[in-house]
Amino acid sequence: MKKILSVILSVILSLAGITACAADGDLTIKLQIGNPNMTVNDTEKPIDENGTVPVIINDRTLLPVRAVVEEIGGDVEWDGETQTVVLAYGEDIVVLEIDNTTAYHNEEPSTLEAAPTIINDRTMLPIRFIAESFKFDVEWDGETQTVTITKAAEATEPTETPAPTATPAATAEPTAASADNEQQESKTLVAYFSATNNTEGVAKHIAEGIGADIYEITPEEPYTDADLDYNSDCRANREQNDDSARPAISGTVENMEQYDTIFLGYPIWWGNAPKIIFTFLESYDFSGKTIIPFCTSGSSPIGSTTAMQSVTQGANWLDGHRFGGGASSDTVMDWVNGLDLE
Ligand SMILES: Cc1cc2nc3c(=O)[nH]c(=O)nc-3n(C[C@H](O)[C@H](O)[C@H](O)COP(=O)(O)O)c2cc1C
Repeated sequence: MKKILSVILSVILSLAGITACAADGDLTIKLQIGNPNMTVNDTEKPIDENGTVPVIINDRTLLPVRAVVEEIGGDVEWDGETQTVVLAYGEDIVVLEIDNTTAYHNEEPSTLEAAPTIINDRTMLPIRFIAESFKFDVEWDGETQTVTITKAAEATEPTETPAPTATPAATAEPTAASADNEQQESKTLVAYFSATNNTEGVAKHIAEGIGADIYEITPEEPYTDADLDYNSDCRANREQNDDSARPAISGTVENMEQYDTIFLGYPIWWGNAPKIIFTFLESYDFSGKTIIPFCTSGSSPIGSTTAMQSVTQGANWLDGHRFGGGASSDTVMDWVNGLDLE
């Protein structure tokens, strides 16, 4: 671990100032299992001079990383001694170790479903984690066995979020969109817990996309980096292993009665929702309300919501959805629009 961190630091230093920025226009890269060529914005070219092809191992698509990351304008550093690959793109740094399912995105660990591996002298990596860390969309077409990686051109400079009005801390705060529509009272709430801001990004896309109110489930005792270090006996791990753990929440949703639909967002911790989500669900009466779970994770699926359903009697739970940490507004809204809500 120390070695990995020192590699991260040395690469951050060596890449400072030279890390590539996002491409100016739309970028689409297609790779197909067994095909030594890739298509970059409709132009076909060899993946590399070795004739490397994408493969499927243990149901995971592994792609030759150097070709893809360099194509998107990123940098690849290989440390043979520690068998570590460091990928840098914009401000995002991804660190992966050969044969190790723990990967790091900006020093935040995640568990990969397939470990990076070396085939024919080429490092083969599970592309979804990398692309999503770099905020690209990844689509898999099972019929043609093709992975499509896309990044839309930045349409405008990000605008600043207006300063919140003087609402009490940690009460449901209207988003810019809902504030504009103050006359039409919103009946949808996006409630989320996010320890490292990945889920927060998705929650904001939903709230802004549909003009809903947004509420952050804020722990009374914030999670420190040490609390989240899941390779140790950390607070998050202890809570996940304790059925009765209910971390306290600071603040409340005012007038929960007004909401009939609640999007509920959280990170996956050891395959499940963090225990603070149970604190939230046990704090209100959700009967008659529709709850739509969503999550972010390194790679794990959203998993079962049965345990959460059992503490919200009378609520109508819809199927949930898992996003990667950097899911774009388009990706998120495609899912929301497909829910066919009124
Ligand atoms: C304690 C802990 C356990 C985790 N367990 C998993 C896991 O089982 N599967 C996974 O894919 N990611 C796991 N992760 C990674 C998080 O799900 C992922 O980084 C998520 O996007 C974090 O969301 P947040 O930034 O909103 O907190 C874990 C992270 C932590 C801190």
